[in-house]
Amino acid sequence: MVFSFLILVALTRLASSQTPYNAQQPLTPQDHSQGYKFDPLFHLPGISPYFDAVAFGLSHDAPLGCNITAASYIIRHSAIYANEHEYETYMKPFLNKLKKNLDGWSGPLSFLTEWTSPILEDKLEDITPSGAEDAVKVGLHLLERYRDLVPTTKRILADKKARTYDTAKNFIKAFPNSEDIELVRITQDRDGAMDALIPHKSCPAFNKEPGKNETAEFISNYAPFVSKRLRPYTAFDLTDNDVVGLQQLCGYESAIKGTRSPICAVFSDSEWMAYEYAWDLKYAHMVGPLNPLSTYLGFPWLQEQTKLFSAIDSNTPHSTHDKNGRGWPKGQRLFLSFTHREVPPFIATALGIFNSSSTAKEEFPTDSINWTRAWKMADLIPFLGHVGLEKMECGIEAGIKGAFIRVIANSAPRPIPNCQRGPSASCNFEGFQELMKRGYEKYGDFHGVCGTKKGLGFA
Ligand SMILES: *[C@@H]1O[C@H](CO)[C@@H](O)[C@H](O)[C@H]1NC(C)=O
Ligand SMILES: *[C@@H]1O[C@H](CO)[C@@H](O)[C@H](O)[C@H]1NC(C)=O
Ligand SMILES: *[C@@H]1O[C@H](CO)[C@@H](O)[C@H](O)[C@H]1NC(C)=O
Ligand SMILES: *[C@@H]1O[C@H](CO)[C@@H](O)[C@H](O)[C@H]1NC(C)=O
Repeated sequence: MVFSFLILVALTRLASSQTPYNAQQPLTPQDHSQGYKFDPLFHLPGISPYFDAVAFGLSHDAPLGCNITAASYIIRHSAIYANEHEYETYMKPFLNKLKKNLDGWSGPLSFLTEWTSPILEDKLEDITPSGAEDAVKVGLHLLERYRDLVPTTKRILADKKARTYDTAKNFIKAFPNSEDIELVRITQDRDGAMDALIPHKSCPAFNKEPGKNETAEFISNYAPFVSKRLRPYTAFDLTDNDVVGLQQLCGYESAIKGTRSPICAVFSDSEWMAYEYAWDLKYAHMVGPLNPLSTYLGFPWLQEQTKLFSAIDSNTPHSTHDKNGRGWPKGQRLFLSFTHREVPPFIATALGIFNSSSTAKEEFPTDSINWTRAWKMADLIPFLGHVGLEKMECGIEAGIKGAFIRVIANSAPRPIPNCQRGPSASCNFEGFQELMKRGYEKYGDFHGVCGTKKGLGFA
């Protein structure tokens, strides 16, 4: 693989050196660090506008000699005005004080005297106009990536919330066949459809408490220093939660307006890194490796895709034509489901794609940042964050023939820890099936750990 890649690079260089005007031009690789500038929008787990993740730098294109023959994505909704809990806890108390203290801001904060909150309180959980535009853009992204698969899409899924439905509706505007796509809302747990799409909502044992205390503790370790540094410029003393609220407003204002919020420039790189860690800590406890439920909650979707990808190239059609949204129309090869921020992390945890490479449990101290952690949720759950599985057919040109699976998170391939010997670190399909089978044996008891009563209506 590496060898053929090097040959390809050499040939490309040779080709370009023969074009007359390019002859003297130096090679200009797009280095990840050249011209590097710190950007807080890359460090806001859960609340930043969408961006493609770099991950390990693997190419987004199909590996040489391979074709992508099917893909399935689970996608978080696009930008909303604010998550209610984050708004009530962090942003609103600050905004209320700001309203009464419009004077008295100076230096880096002087803009606040004329700043108004972009958050519409009566629309908190609706998608924003720029969120709708971003959904089309990410849809276009997938169209460019899967030109041959997009026309097969006949049905996509969302849950009952307006924000997933509206995101889905905008997302497919990018597809030439959007008129022919049926958008199905999953409102009843038929055949585990909700377990796959919104496992956190169909699992009574899951709640959002885990990590709250640890996050508050970590915040109390960094926010007072930020508040103290800014004291000369503020109209009132910023509480710990005010500091966090202001930092969140950088993400939300940027995502709402589609332009960078002036608040983003107020904090230093290390203050943003502390914010990022506080939320990685929260997500690790709530929806990641530190919650024993996470793997169980990621498995229904993985199990469904494994079945789907196993059936898709066999003689048994993967179609039931069920009007209730179960099954997929015949011939469909690109599958999209729209969900909430909790779900990609469950799946990432079940696959181990945001795992540390050490066999030791990743540690999340509350008194200092773990800089070497693999768990970086800014790269997974911006608005429109997604996890996808691609099925590939590879020929002899790839060095190895057969079917392979590649995992994608926000455009970037992420190798599966124990199955990565295929082209571009992909996993051979049989190996993937085996991994999922073993995983399912261990983590398949969704209803057992969740305490779900069969037939319980969550619609
Ligand atoms: C968080 O702290 C509160 C108050 O100290 C305590 O009652 C609660 O049990 C803690 N929660 C967890 C999940 O540890
Ligand atoms: C991910 O890390 C956990 C420990 O934190 C470990 O138990 C698990 O096996 C790892 N998963 C993979 C796929 O390597
Ligand atoms: C950070 O996490 C890694 C695992 O990813 C662990 O080996 C290391 O001990 C942790 N470091 C700190 C400072 O907690
Ligand atoms: C990939 O697709 C091309 C074009 O349809 C075809 O010629 C080639 O044989 C395919 N390769 C594999 C490995 O299926």
